[in-house]
Amino acid sequence: MPNLTSWSDLPDDVWQHCLGRARHFRDTREWTSGAKGKSIALLFLNPSLRTRASMELAAHHLGAAPVVITPGQGTWGLAWGEDAMTGDAAEHVHEAIGVLARYADAIGVRTFASLTDYDADQSDAALGAIVEASGVPVVNLESAKWHPCQELADAAAITETLGDPRGKKLVLSWAPHPKALPQAVPNSALLMAARLGMEVVVARPEGFSLGTDVMDLAKKTASLSGGSVTESADQDIAFAGADIVYAKAWSGALVYDNPEEEESRRLARMDDWRITNRLMMQTDRGHFMHCLPVRRGVVVDAEVLESEDAIHLLQAEYRLHAQKAILEWVWGMGS
Ligand code: CP
Repeated sequence: MPNLTSWSDLPDDVWQHCLGRARHFRDTREWTSGAKGKSIALLFLNPSLRTRASMELAAHHLGAAPVVITPGQGTWGLAWGEDAMTGDAAEHVHEAIGVLARYADAIGVRTFASLTDYDADQSDAALGAIVEASGVPVVNLESAKWHPCQELADAAAITETLGDPRGKKLVLSWAPHPKALPQAVPNSALLMAARLGMEVVVARPEGFSLGTDVMDLAKKTASLSGGSVTESADQDIAFAGADIVYAKAWSGALVYDNPEEEESRRLARMDDWRITNRLMMQTDRGHFMHCLPVRRGVVVDAEVLESEDAIHLLQAEYRLHAQKAILEWVWGMGS
């Protein structure tokens, strides 16, 4: 039974096939009836615009029926763990997933990092519990650690924009944000660019490195694909000659042990790490990317978003096309 929990669930041949299908769907805009009679339950434990809209539409485009569940907002709040359920939550995730698996042919789940429980976030424990309770394929719609649907869409947008991306330079740049945010998107973007064989530079201030396990995996992946992964604490140097700037805010590891100190360090960087036209001028007419939603004037200046070299809307569009390819894979369709 295929689950899409992380980037590594899509072997290289399947990944390449899905990229081709995503491009095909963008070129043709075709609706099919290939998944007629299938259904997918989409469980959102956190907010979403793109993932929710594109997943619902992807199912419709293939002839399948989506149903969206937002626990606590019209459906019962969910409990986790072993404790007696004496609080507000009326339903345990075990029964909720067990029921949805009896209705639907796949379950999509969004469950962000807690940013309070390091071990649970590192092991993607919430997603794992859902996979264990489900008797049907599970598609990760952003978990504590990974965002594989975003990653496939990003790879499709880069490939369309650059052609063969091997050897091209991608800067994954930390950006300021008033709130502590998880690392699922930068983790996935890093692995995606490494898999494409790009020369990747992770630009981040001291104290905001990505996890050592993710960095090591990215380096190994890049070496197999002919690319490379390095780090820099100097945004100006990192941006020089870049073909792609992928901006994202993320929290430092200190958020788990000392959130006040993490916030203080993060807020101290509010002005000097924002993506500006001045920084973009140092690239090789680099394309700006961001998974969205993005805070204008905080993460990036509006003039960068409105530049003709920005491809963040193409990224978002590819969510629809890439997820059609993913659903085909999950349900054993597509050629
Ligand atoms: N990029 C992304 O997943 O967007 P949403 O949070 O709006 O779904």
